[in-house]
Amino acid sequence: MPATAAEAARAAALREEIGRHDHAYYVLDAPTVPDAEYDRLFRELRDLEARHPELAAPDSPTRRVGGQPLPEFSPVRHAVPMLSIRTETDFGPDGARNFDTRVRRALGLADGDPPVEYAAELKFDGLAINLRYERGLLVRAATRGDGETGEDVTQNVRTIRAVPLRLRGAGPSVLEVRGEAYMSRRDFRAYNERQRTRGLPTLVNPRNGAAGSIRQLDPKLAAERPLSFFAYGLGEVQDWAVPGTHAAILDALQAMGLPVCGHRAVSPGPEGLVAFHARIAAMRDALPFDIDGVVYKVNDLALQRELGFVSREPRWAVAHKYPPEEMLTTVEAIEVQVGRTGALTPVARLAPVFVGGVTVTNATLHNEDEVRRKDVRVGDTVIVRRAGDVIPEVVSVVADRRPMKDLFGGEPLHPPFVLPTSCPVCGSAVEKPEDEAIARCTGGLFCPAQRKQALLHFASRRALDIEGLGEKLVDQLVDTGLVRTPADIYALDLDRLAALDRMAEKSAANLLAAVERSRTTTLSRFVYALGIRNVGEATARDLARHFGDLPPLMDADEVGLQAVPDVGPVVARSIARFFAEPHNREVIAALRGAGVHWPIHAAVAAGPAPLAGRTFVLTGTLPTMSRDEAKGLIEARGGKVAGSVSKKTDFVVAGAEAGSKLDKARELGVAVIDEAALLALAQEGE
Ligand code: IVH
Repeated sequence: MPATAAEAARAAALREEIGRHDHAYYVLDAPTVPDAEYDRLFRELRDLEARHPELAAPDSPTRRVGGQPLPEFSPVRHAVPMLSIRTETDFGPDGARNFDTRVRRALGLADGDPPVEYAAELKFDGLAINLRYERGLLVRAATRGDGETGEDVTQNVRTIRAVPLRLRGAGPSVLEVRGEAYMSRRDFRAYNERQRTRGLPTLVNPRNGAAGSIRQLDPKLAAERPLSFFAYGLGEVQDWAVPGTHAAILDALQAMGLPVCGHRAVSPGPEGLVAFHARIAAMRDALPFDIDGVVYKVNDLALQRELGFVSREPRWAVAHKYPPEEMLTTVEAIEVQVGRTGALTPVARLAPVFVGGVTVTNATLHNEDEVRRKDVRVGDTVIVRRAGDVIPEVVSVVADRRPMKDLFGGEPLHPPFVLPTSCPVCGSAVEKPEDEAIARCTGGLFCPAQRKQALLHFASRRALDIEGLGEKLVDQLVDTGLVRTPADIYALDLDRLAALDRMAEKSAANLLAAVERSRTTTLSRFVYALGIRNVGEATARDLARHFGDLPPLMDADEVGLQAVPDVGPVVARSIARFFAEPHNREVIAALRGAGVHWPIHAAVAAGPAPLAGRTFVLTGTLPTMSRDEAKGLIEARGGKVAGSVSKKTDFVVAGAEAGSKLDKARELGVAVIDEAALLALAQEGE
């Protein structure tokens, strides 16, 4: 039956759309839709053309395989064409059985004949590369291109550490190795993290990262995006006795120093393939790289030759896919989450979509800059990626599916995203330093989202040191509503504590005693305990020494704060912002109201600094002081503590069982003192 006008129009529309996606994918290295969607369009067109051959226009994308070579790279004609591989779309065990049935039929085997032996391996999600070795030396690397002609990418492939520049042993006169260049998930994440903190564009997925890196014109930039490689087959071979099976070829390549993936199997008949497919599915998330399926190959090369090819695809191999890790869905809303450290993260609420093995309903958008760069808006159709056990993320927007106010290409229906200026959880001001990508809530002591983190930090050993107030108890105290801010810790009593799950009376009493002890502290511990961003122990000490008491510190402006040694504009700004937030001031007032105090003389603002300019190294166990206490004393008196002994060390303070540092001190002639001598030195001038 000839095609209807509607079918002809649909075929034309599909050709046009697929052509656009091809260009974006192969030429721009910037895919516009996920593979699953592309495959769906492609299949629809192929089926239409199969039913109505007159629709198969000469320029139909179904008539070619792969991409066109980029003009920037010299073309390389493949001595043996680089073919593609048929895909089995049935995700279940039938995928393997259907392949076996086809193979047996093509070989004319009857039901009673022995099983065909198969090799199973992973289908790596990267970029196919042909490595040409002549007499063992890597002379050229090329992409697949359209299968006949690829691009010369030798320079960039040389940057891949996994690719040997010379083969082990005496290499054959010609050996072409085919395989996949890929980017590991770890390298992908690290690259994107780095880009995000620099405010630069990120890669959409590791495969795209591999393609971009291989086709990067500047080999130095290519090296910045590290790739790996797995060999899975051969191209042209001269002067080498090719082993008789696929599995033996891979073993031989491995012996020559080429990287071959260890996850492979040989199976007589299809059931071993079914098991392989299931086993790899179970470990897919845990693999260090993306795969989109497994590949089965007839193991015996003689049988492979007998089976041959149909329309540029070997009859002896098939790809058996897994459910995709990238899918299309729509954005229903963009919300902002506040993390434990106050970081504001925009999150897309999505129409539920099954991706990477789970149903995803929200996906991170990382930060405001990234939402802007990707221009994600409510109503948009987006690509969602969930690979490995990493949280799902929005990769990109399908621009031409954005809802518009009218049909004539007018304005988008929804405005661009903007981050709120106050915290969506507690209403405190939001801070975003100019050179940072992450915006944060400044209500650290007050914000419910940051409560648990703030309490744990407040009670930690180097802060107010409330022994027994650990993660589990903080969870309970916050979840039952007993404690909201650190000040509430001081209102706890035996009755309330005893009401908690698994809280024995003795531990409740111990905790209350620890709380009681913590009421008397030092200014520097207190300042550190507040959990001000960028204020660690050392800065807290400097602040305490400089200001002497809390009120002048709380009221200092950024200029005044920068008068403190080692406090630069970034730290000064964090401090000023923290104390500018009324919520934080309320909590501090409540803490002081609850009796938390510090002896003013503990602030050594104008105090003596008898150890100034002297460097100490601590070693062994001191009789009365812990390592931290000794360090605290030395630093409070203006000295420095170093980790290793050098000529610049003034004193080594040695206790029991002092080790190699003591030997080193003797060797360099550095003065060795004990705890008593340290105390005496520290008291000079008092
Ligand atoms: S064999 C003649 N084995 O999948 C068979 N291909 O369409 C040639 N791929 O882009 C391919 N892992 O780069 C083969 N273990 C594997 C593979 C694999 C990934 C890619 C290949 C090509 C596509 C095949």
